[in-house]
Amino acid sequence: MAFVVTEACIKCKYTDCVEVCPVDCFYEGPNFLVIHPDECIDCGLCEPECPIEAISADDELADDQIEFIEINAKLADVYPNISEAKQPLPEADEYKDIKDKKHYLNLDTSGTEVANDIGIQSNEIFLYSNGELEINNIKIEIKDVSNIDESIFRNTLIDNLVKEEVVHLNVQGKAFHEWAMKIMEFLQSNDFTDVKLRTLED
Ligand code: SF4
Ligand code: F3S
Repeated sequence: MAFVVTEACIKCKYTDCVEVCPVDCFYEGPNFLVIHPDECIDCGLCEPECPIEAISADDELADDQIEFIEINAKLADVYPNISEAKQPLPEADEYKDIKDKKHYLNLDTSGTEVANDIGIQSNEIFLYSNGELEINNIKIEIKDVSNIDESIFRNTLIDNLVKEEVVHLNVQGKAFHEWAMKIMEFLQSNDFTDVKLRTLED
């Protein structure tokens, strides 16, 4: 058994939970925290600390939160550790009572919220034949992400690309052609005005 951070934490990150964990097994993404299931010792100390009840034991999760077992496990391997409380996200109070927040989950692993006009080097997406996806210097394993949930992946695109500028979709090999088409269609249907497909050499 392990404890799991659920959807309620997204866009809040009150971080009271991290102060009490005796084994420092919380990891921090831009707008969500996760618990490493292999490090959690099931002490239960964090559960009552969260002001919005975002933490549950994995065997007590509501049905619609069971996928967060896998989300915690996967993201704990890529997010940096956090062991000291910090200020909640500025929008925390606005989002604390919103139930359906999974589509806001931002997979960026830099540990900070990425605004559309900050830190973007270029509007570039790279799809490599080894299964790696790179969006403006953020690397994601396509297989992992598709296993978690496509909507998370979709949100990552929206958060990290500028709609009004040209987006270059660079594809290597044919292995992920289907994904390239999916991304292309998705961007076009979300008002990205200019998407250019380029082929990378193997
Ligand atoms: Fe840490 Fe205990 Fe919470 Fe597990 S249950 S995350 S060990 S405080
Ligand atoms: Fe998230 Fe609650 Fe901790 S909102 S950061 S699980 S205190």
